[in-house]
Amino acid sequence: MSPREELLGASSDPIERAEEMSLRPRNLSEFVGQREVRGHLSVLLEAARRRGRPADHVLFAGPPGLGKTSLAGIVAAEMGVNLRVTSGPALVRAGDLAAVLTDLQAGDVLFIDEIHRLPRAVEEVLYPAMEDFQLDVVLGKGPAARSLRLELPAFTLVGATTRTGLVSAPLRDRFGIVARLDHYPPEDLQIIIERAATILGVPTTPDGASEIARRSRGTPRIANRLLKRVRDVAEVHGDGTINAASAREGLALYGVDELGLDKVDRAVLRALCVSFGGGPVGLSTLSVAVGEEPETVEDVHEPFLLLSGFLIRTARGRVATPAAWLHLNLDPPAGAPARASEALELFDE
Ligand SMILES: Nc1ncnc2c1ncn2[C@@H]1O[C@H](COP(=O)(O)OP(=O)(O)OP(=O)(O)O)[C@@H](O)[C@H]1O
Ligand SMILES: [Mg+2]
Repeated sequence: MSPREELLGASSDPIERAEEMSLRPRNLSEFVGQREVRGHLSVLLEAARRRGRPADHVLFAGPPGLGKTSLAGIVAAEMGVNLRVTSGPALVRAGDLAAVLTDLQAGDVLFIDEIHRLPRAVEEVLYPAMEDFQLDVVLGKGPAARSLRLELPAFTLVGATTRTGLVSAPLRDRFGIVARLDHYPPEDLQIIIERAATILGVPTTPDGASEIARRSRGTPRIANRLLKRVRDVAEVHGDGTINAASAREGLALYGVDELGLDKVDRAVLRALCVSFGGGPVGLSTLSVAVGEEPETVEDVHEPFLLLSGFLIRTARGRVATPAAWLHLNLDPPAGAPARASEALELFDE
């Protein structure tokens, strides 16, 4: 398993998979944090219910593991309708999407994960489907080709993307709301961990949960993963209770440091500071240096390093801040930019 899968992807172990499913919030009240998103969504869904119509289309955007897929399920559950799941990369040709659309029942929620990866030709089929619930099918080829317009049942499209920037403007504009998910503060993660611990039947003290929360990189999926790993350590080395001591021991064992940086986060910082003298360095060069896909570095590691103030993005590439050197127990060089604004001044000729 790659570090990204280990930390973020679905587990290959069927028991862990079942546990993961049991931890997913099933309705809006179980969904912790993200008050603004929850507020918008509850109004949208309540209004749709009152009108007896499917809810308007919703796009969830944000880094991996913050709850986009969970929210898609919640939209369907709150409306009491079926959830149909597909993804951008799975819809290769226009016909693939047409097959999914013609199979929908009235009111269904169609969830398209990684919607920024929809091929252009497929995306164009989606526009009339989203706007007017119509599907244009072309029969045959060349001069004999005929176009046929099919009526679709009214449905709700829920899209998810880790890259809002890659969702084309015409597609983005067709969503009723675009809900952006942000990293969670430790208080919210602590609630998520305590809820998960209850579901899993693991005795947990508040300071144990808060220790894991503080080091979960603002990400519920990582919080749940770390909870399970700490549970293992607490069971093997202690009486099975997660407290501050067993949490610290478990997190140390899995290479999660005081601030929640994992091995790859630190490798990125080390490469940036040591191999490239603090930057600026391009994303692909940096990714090669740590042996990860550029997409993994950009989606998974960089957002947290940015959030923690260790790294700055400039037009010329990534630049380390003095905090990065200090975190690696190294002395920052004299010229390291302390803030993003300084870095911009530095490289904005
Ligand atoms: N707000 C929340 N409250 C409680 N648990 C949450 C919340 N958000 C996420 N989780 C937990 O984190 C896990 C990961 O969330 P989810 O799969 O919905 O993320 P995602 O944004 O779809 O990630 P990806 O971009 O990788 O697909 C869920 O299974 C759930 O247990
Ligand atoms: Mg998802």
